[in-house]
Amino acid sequence: MEKNGFEMKDFGKFIQAFYFCAMKILDGKLVAQAVKDELKAKVSDLKTRGMRAPHLAAVLVGNNGASETYVASKVKTCEEIGYESTLVRFDADIEEKTLLNKIEDLNNNAGIDGILVQLPLPKQVSEEKVIHKLKPQKDVDGFHPLNIGKMVQGLPSFIPATPYGILLLLEHYKIETKGKHAVVLGRSNIVGRPVSILLGQNTPTGNCTVTVCHSHTKNIREICLQGDILVAALGRPEFLKADMVKDGAVVIDVGISRVPDNSKKKGYSIKGDVQFDAVAPKTSFITPVPGGVGAMTIAALMKNTFQAYLNRLETGND
Ligand code: GUN
Repeated sequence: MEKNGFEMKDFGKFIQAFYFCAMKILDGKLVAQAVKDELKAKVSDLKTRGMRAPHLAAVLVGNNGASETYVASKVKTCEEIGYESTLVRFDADIEEKTLLNKIEDLNNNAGIDGILVQLPLPKQVSEEKVIHKLKPQKDVDGFHPLNIGKMVQGLPSFIPATPYGILLLLEHYKIETKGKHAVVLGRSNIVGRPVSILLGQNTPTGNCTVTVCHSHTKNIREICLQGDILVAALGRPEFLKADMVKDGAVVIDVGISRVPDNSKKKGYSIKGDVQFDAVAPKTSFITPVPGGVGAMTIAALMKNTFQAYLNRLETGND
């Protein structure tokens, strides 16, 4: 049907365009840069006062392509900010004991403030043993049970970098979380579990009612449709489709999967857990991939490292 040259089918496009205009990108690159600039200024100030810079040690086992990229990015960011960094590399067939001994060394090295062991680890090495071996005061990933326990109780601790980065993004864009229904897809120790706890806490970036969905959740589409805030952290490329998202939702995409793509020089393209093109027009805020949560993860790690440095100064480097 046409009325005054305006077809009804155009109405849908008009509505979509309206939402598209209302939709705002949560620019992780931009916010991460602001965080890094602030840290850089602090480091510069330390150095002018004759003090040493914070020092992060990164441990990389094997040659998983994605892990290589993440660790290289973390080391590069240290350089940008003015931190010291040490990269410790091991072959994929390393014995567990060797890695545990190295962590002991790093724990006891007075010049090192923060340690991260890039996950995943090869199957002969227990991630649990490795994480438990980290000195909690240097565990800037916030994976040690002591740090997780403190986080759960709302005590000062190192918050895992990706959840922390998400909170910083919500804070920067002044996104109201109080009273909202947050739906978290995924229950990993690194992202889903901690972010679900943090969003439910009585804090300025919390006070949500939180639902956690996982591989055994029934009616996942219906649950997602109730979410004012959706955090997709399943590691399943383009899992979250437009028909799972309510109009005006805030969508945080934590996914970063390498999907084979012959049209790309590298042979793969990076996909988030959200079908961005279809979902974005329905949202009020959405993170892109890349340039969203990934950038914030590194910025948050750098903040934790600075905090570890300050804590160690206060407590006499113990
Ligand atoms: N693997 C995937 N994400 C992370 C992270 O935040 N820290 C570490 N250490 N390993 C990871």
